[in-house]
Amino acid sequence: MAEIIIVRDQDEAGELYAHCVADLIAVNPFAVLGLATGSTPLTAYQHLAWQIRDRGIDVSHVRGFALDEYAGLPVEHPESYRSVITRTVVEPLGLDPRHIHVPDGALETLPTAGEEYDRAIAAAGGIDVQILGIGTDGHIGFNEPGSSLASGTRVKTLTEQTRQDNARFFGGNLDQVPTHCITQGIGTILKARHVILLAFGENKAQAVADSIEGGISSFCPASALQLHPHATFIIDEAAAGSLKRADYYRWVYANKPEWQGI
Ligand code: GLP
Repeated sequence: MAEIIIVRDQDEAGELYAHCVADLIAVNPFAVLGLATGSTPLTAYQHLAWQIRDRGIDVSHVRGFALDEYAGLPVEHPESYRSVITRTVVEPLGLDPRHIHVPDGALETLPTAGEEYDRAIAAAGGIDVQILGIGTDGHIGFNEPGSSLASGTRVKTLTEQTRQDNARFFGGNLDQVPTHCITQGIGTILKARHVILLAFGENKAQAVADSIEGGISSFCPASALQLHPHATFIIDEAAAGSLKRADYYRWVYANKPEWQGI
């Protein structure tokens, strides 16, 4: 099963992610990072930026692939995921923007953009570590409930709930939130060599419990991670609030040999 790490707060989660990724880049300067948007990974990126600076790690060759993008939103829009990834990851970490890919949400090329994106990931050698948040309905990337567990990168229609959740990034105006997106598929995400899902807060508790302790179902896309050989959930107490076996996960982690890493 996935490793479940219940942490004190976002800082502790961010430190775990940052250690793992900084160690990876230190031994493999050409590492390929899977990048996510949303508020959840922000602290983790901040910790990674600090580690890179403090340890003097060369990131000039690091490659990155974002999970998703809104369809039809101009890339220069401040809430396009290209802009968000540039602002929250590329600039603070000092990555080379030429090595960072975001699915192309331009309407003219949308029908073929997904397959091209998956080819680009494969050509880069696949993703080493994919960071994920989770939607309140269990979505990962923008794979809404019902998404094929074998899906590749493709166009999806956003649910009303996701659009409402994301309206805060568009001045609270639901009409401004795009209706469609292009997202790495669940099958694409499962190909990453290590997947780290972060979740914080009570409003993620049900989705987290469904993902870890529910059946594998396209109705909870994150439950597909039960099929992944190296998945790590790093969650706070509030997000762990609906887990039946939380004590067992705590015990397992507390007794884990230090050399194992995450
Ligand atoms: C969006 C993103 C997801 C993210 C989710 C949760 O839908 N496409 O990748 O996990 O939001 O966002 P937040 O982390 O802000 O709760």
